[in-house]
Amino acid sequence: MIKKCLFPAAGYGTRFLPATKSMPKEMMPIVNKPLIEYGVDEAIEAGITGMCIVTGRGKHSLMDHFDKNYELEHQISGTNKEALLEDIRATIDAASFTYIRQKEMKGLGHAILTGRELVGDEAFAVVLADDLCLNLEDGVLSQMVALYKQFRCSIVAVEEVPEDETHKYGVISGEEMRDNLYRVDNMVEKPEQGTAPSNLAIIGRYILTPDIFDILEKTEPGKNGEIQITDALLKQAQSGCVLAYKFKGERFDCGSVEGFIQATNYCYENIYLKSDAPNQPQKTVKTG
Ligand code: UTP
Repeated sequence: MIKKCLFPAAGYGTRFLPATKSMPKEMMPIVNKPLIEYGVDEAIEAGITGMCIVTGRGKHSLMDHFDKNYELEHQISGTNKEALLEDIRATIDAASFTYIRQKEMKGLGHAILTGRELVGDEAFAVVLADDLCLNLEDGVLSQMVALYKQFRCSIVAVEEVPEDETHKYGVISGEEMRDNLYRVDNMVEKPEQGTAPSNLAIIGRYILTPDIFDILEKTEPGKNGEIQITDALLKQAQSGCVLAYKFKGERFDCGSVEGFIQATNYCYENIYLKSDAPNQPQKTVKTG
């Protein structure tokens, strides 16, 4: 049903300079796995097989990551370290990867429009890999794909945030149709303190119907001089239907240092230590 997922990954990641000077933010690891791989695995879990990645200058390592490294494979073949490549091999085998370059960083809306050639004329998912979403049962994209099957319109994932943080997000308001599901009637990108229409902030997961591309083409630069996906979605909401879904699960803003550290601690305790990865720290045995 939803076969493709777009990953806008062309941003500069300035909050993580100097780390992101020559390394894409999306390649920063949470424990031992890059952010983008978590996003791709979430998409695969949702039944999506076409990964469309919008890249920019200096982002070659993204492409290399989803490709075979024959030299490395050869070196560790037959050793106990081979198991460390199992997950990424499975990810590469489960999906196809296509890339397009965003020539100028004109904002998230522009990055999504750049992906049009890869996506074509069908509904698609969008993952911002620096928002890491984890859930013990269905992943956030799986939850949203199930909703799309029912409603067949654009859906944004939202989370309640403290009022003094709404200015960092796109914020929606709307009528609650049922538990955790809203029909959007207003959307404001990074509202000034005290002017947000609610505390429901859009996070980095979307399902978009393909008419969004024509709307984006006509969308003028908005906040910060960038083409904003929220402006296009508001137009879509006014002429049709856009839903906002309060998802189940944990979300970490790994584009910020605090969120990145929280995600690292969470994944180390809840995923890494519970797995049987062969590169886990050896347990120290106390003697005498
Ligand atoms: P962010 O604003 O969070 O990412 O954009 P950034 O610009 O890379 O980070 P900072 O603020 O400078 O630290 C949200 C997402 O949209 C992508 C980014 O890569 C990120 O995944 N993006 C943003 C693009 O692909 N192109 C753009 O022109 C802008």
